[in-house]
Amino acid sequence: LDQKVRQNIHESNNFINYKKMSENLAIVRSRLNRPLTYAEKILYSHLDDPHGQDIERGTSYLKLRPDRVACQDATAQMAILQFMSAGMPSVANPTTVHCDHLIEAQVGGEKDLARAVEINKEVYDFLASACAKYNIGFWKPGSGIIHQIILENYAFPGGLMIGTDSHTPNAGGLGMAAIGVGGADAVDVMANLPWELKAPKIIGVKLTGQMSGWTAPKDVILKVADILTVKGGTGAIVEYHGDGVKTMSATGMGTICNMGAEIGATTSLFPFNDRMYDYLASTKRQFIGDFARQYAHELREDEGAEYDQLIEINLSELEPHINGPFTPDLGTPISKFAARAKENGWPEELKVGLIGSCTNSSYEDFSRGAAIARDALNHGLKAKSAFFVTPGSEQIRATTQRDGQLQTFEEFGGVVLANACGPCIGQWDRRDVKKGEKNSILSSYNRNFTGRNDGNPATHSFVTSPDLVVALTIAGRLSFNPLTDTLKDKDGKEFKLSPPTGEALPAKGFDPGNNTYQAPPQDRASVQVAVSPTSDRLQLLQPFQPWDGKDATDMPILIKCKGKTTTDHISMAGPWLKYRGHLDNISNNMLIGAINEANGEANKVKNFTTGEFDAVPAVARDYKKKGIKWVVIGDYNYGEGSSREHAALEPRHLGGLAIVTRSFARIHETNLKKQGMLPLTFSDPADYEKIKPDDKVDIKCTELAVGKPITMVVHPKDGKDFEIKLSHTFNAGQIEWFKNGSALNTMAKKNSA
Ligand code: F3S
Repeated sequence: LDQKVRQNIHESNNFINYKKMSENLAIVRSRLNRPLTYAEKILYSHLDDPHGQDIERGTSYLKLRPDRVACQDATAQMAILQFMSAGMPSVANPTTVHCDHLIEAQVGGEKDLARAVEINKEVYDFLASACAKYNIGFWKPGSGIIHQIILENYAFPGGLMIGTDSHTPNAGGLGMAAIGVGGADAVDVMANLPWELKAPKIIGVKLTGQMSGWTAPKDVILKVADILTVKGGTGAIVEYHGDGVKTMSATGMGTICNMGAEIGATTSLFPFNDRMYDYLASTKRQFIGDFARQYAHELREDEGAEYDQLIEINLSELEPHINGPFTPDLGTPISKFAARAKENGWPEELKVGLIGSCTNSSYEDFSRGAAIARDALNHGLKAKSAFFVTPGSEQIRATTQRDGQLQTFEEFGGVVLANACGPCIGQWDRRDVKKGEKNSILSSYNRNFTGRNDGNPATHSFVTSPDLVVALTIAGRLSFNPLTDTLKDKDGKEFKLSPPTGEALPAKGFDPGNNTYQAPPQDRASVQVAVSPTSDRLQLLQPFQPWDGKDATDMPILIKCKGKTTTDHISMAGPWLKYRGHLDNISNNMLIGAINEANGEANKVKNFTTGEFDAVPAVARDYKKKGIKWVVIGDYNYGEGSSREHAALEPRHLGGLAIVTRSFARIHETNLKKQGMLPLTFSDPADYEKIKPDDKVDIKCTELAVGKPITMVVHPKDGKDFEIKLSHTFNAGQIEWFKNGSALNTMAKKNSA
């Protein structure tokens, strides 16, 4: 048996080590003594401490050592800026950055790309130079969408990867456990801290039978989403198995895993099989396929593995589905769709059909789509609706250009957009309808929340397979069912579209197209990272100050928040996304959505030094200037929502010391700790009511110790001082983060020791 092989063809020093993984697994097996699911095998073989780790599904927190990190350009900026402040010479684990989110669709691939390169120049220059400096693989704008590039180049069976994008699970199509995370987690792994994940529950999906006709892999996940709903996968990994798996292409499995994000699943994955082998072989990685075959028994579930929940889907009976509008879990089989659209008043005319994106732009998807389009063209028909094609990668674009599918789409009336996210993430300069005008669009993407694609809340966005997108685009209406209905050809003669066919992989092999990859140079010491001091989008981070060793006294309450305070209230998205790489600028959104208990208003708090009311960030800045530390008081589940680290960086940057709440959303609590803040909770939740927005507080930081409460002394504006107890969840390592000023300072200190 081989010991290890290279992870990919781009990096010569990074290996897949199945032997080590099997050894770790043997340790865990001897402890648990029960059959394991495939997802468990991947996670447990990547444990930081297989001997000592506590393992209970749904309860314990696993400390893991992922094989790789992937970042997209929007989230990479702050992740890399933070990593830089740790002062390490290069990333500790293999990492890639992908430029895909900042390219707006307007007129077509080439022009749109050129415009984006100009508009985002400083961001791209920063990412390119930082990647070169810190040994990160850089995929330039135009290379394609992160998840497609990962599948084509980096994913491998049995691997564990984290990515700063929710559709990272796409790599499950090659049997990799790939998990979407926030930037702070990516920084940990880049800096060699173990990565923490709550041991997921495992949902099994057993596939039987065989797909045929108009049914596509997409329909499996559309059906699963309909069954489980957008919340049903929370805290769980969805693991597919059963005989039906064999009938699906690797890219089809990727589609299913990709859209598992829509049910909130931690990730989704398929066991290693021959179809994955074929895909690896056709993407220049047969050596990985051969290696995986030697370890195939560990790259699937054990006989008798138990699932926390089990769903069965018979592929032979699965109907094509269309899900939506406004939510991806509202599933309707095609046979009922026309009637349901009518009942609900969904606009019948189909304005736009869109195929591609990270979810559905495989060779197979484009071949099947082109076959349907060709069938229409042969009958003298073209797309009635507007039609857009987003290739997922330069390789897919070049290959389908060579083999004719793209020409067919263009002849059909389609516009081929840049290899990027485009309309999927609202990067779409849509002109055919006015804002507020009710209309229907249909895509092969994964998300269809209100306004996501075109910013128009009246757009009814539906998701389905690329096959149905093309078919309904020909008819130009939602009421068309290609399985049963006929169309009229150019002479008025009725005909039925043939069910689509298409090769899973190109017979002539893939054409890589333009070279869009920048490998890190050998000599990296001399590379300068490009950040202009006058930039308003990027700013280098200064390490935060260490704790001064003293108790904090007489601190004002910046804001006592009333009701829900989510990460959106703490660090709003929308127009602020532009400043993701500039901490000082983005801090101007700090807590502007939170409701002040004193006046019931958002973004209006009293500055105690002046008595004036002002915006929250303005008051915080004034305190900081005057050397006054401050605290925030919050209610239950403070910081729920997303994992965005800006929500923790901003209060730290503007001089906050502690956030005191009734409870925290766990990820935000950890993020605060990482940045050197004190997330504390009222030991008696009723104490929240005792604090008034005008009070001052002392926090006895010197009492901070594992498992012990700390004291807060409250000085009411009128009345007598009183003490309350605050709890916390700091462990010994995290207390060091507080003392050193942040987790990264702690890393930097260790590295220089
Ligand atoms: Fe991009 Fe949309 Fe996928 S934003 S990464 S194409 S889900």
